[in-house]
Amino acid sequence: MNAAIANDRNTDHVDLLMSRVESSADATARALVNTVLSPRFYTTDFAAFDRLDIEPVRAEWDVMMAEYEGDNNHDHFQRDAQFAEEVKQLMPQLSPELRQEFIDFLISSLTSEFSGCILYNEIRKNIKNPDIRQLMTYMARDESRHAGFINQSLKDFNLGIDLGGLKRSKSYTFFKPKYIFYATYLSEKIGYARYITIFRQLEKHPDKRFHPIFRWFERWCNDEFRHGESFALIMRADPKLLSGVNRLWIRFFILAVYATMYVRDHSRPLLHEAMGLHSTDYDYEVFRITSQICRQVFPVELDIDHPSFRRGMDKLLQISLAHQRAKVRGGPVGLLLQGVHALRAVWTFGTLFMLPVKSNELPQQTRMAPVW
Ligand SMILES: [Fe+2]
Ligand SMILES: [Fe+2]
Repeated sequence: MNAAIANDRNTDHVDLLMSRVESSADATARALVNTVLSPRFYTTDFAAFDRLDIEPVRAEWDVMMAEYEGDNNHDHFQRDAQFAEEVKQLMPQLSPELRQEFIDFLISSLTSEFSGCILYNEIRKNIKNPDIRQLMTYMARDESRHAGFINQSLKDFNLGIDLGGLKRSKSYTFFKPKYIFYATYLSEKIGYARYITIFRQLEKHPDKRFHPIFRWFERWCNDEFRHGESFALIMRADPKLLSGVNRLWIRFFILAVYATMYVRDHSRPLLHEAMGLHSTDYDYEVFRITSQICRQVFPVELDIDHPSFRRGMDKLLQISLAHQRAKVRGGPVGLLLQGVHALRAVWTFGTLFMLPVKSNELPQQTRMAPVW
């Protein structure tokens, strides 16, 4: 076991300001929280989904649907004989701080997976369009496996989340279909990039694989990649979604997804350190992969290597930490400071939004292979 895993570093990071998860009820409460940074549940305009026409991308669509039907991961989300043994052997070696970060990672990943499951299921139930219905059935199938598989690992710690209760109790955010396309496309592709980056790192450094769940990430992330492909085709079928004022919406969503991930990941420095990664380097690797993939559909790309971009992301992180501290402080001063930091965050986000972007000509063929 790597020494870093047992490291008891005391850093000024967001998690120190958050409550600890010590029971199943705490885990569910954490999953229920809706903040700017936490994964949400969505609902949308189902009638608009019914009207989607995928004829312009029919050939690529049919190939993709055949892949879904082939279901090459149908036997993947089952634990092997070693799983329990590895959990028993490795978990006691984790420091309490790392354990909390890992649990937080599992809860937020489960909430995202389950969020997809609910949204795809709800769309399926509320529409008649046969193409989209079939797609939603397959994607909900995959996400339900993913969420269930993570929940099994939480149950090992007696922290299993009541998914039925979560579905009933968590609030839902309404998103117009086009926002669902941009945001969900990005979250599927960034999910792929996150899982594959972790998998490749631990493939190179198996001594840093402190939980067996990471062994599942390679085949798992291919599901996420394909989910992203589905939204890429839906968007490519309607060029209006990718031009005019929508170019600004695309910029907005890329930046929002990247910024949220950056701030959130920096609240788990020990988790990345235990894998031999640094949160900043890990995030920029994920941005790099995601940006390359997004060229299949988005006409604009953020300049993630621009010094002002990097400075802006760090500033957002510092503002988020200051906001958390103001929240802990409480009282009228704490409240006032929270307001000040919220305004600073909006301003910084606005400055990042105004940075020059790269234009990108869309390829003839949309679909890509997950080669990272
Ligand atoms: Fe998933
Ligand atoms: Fe997915």
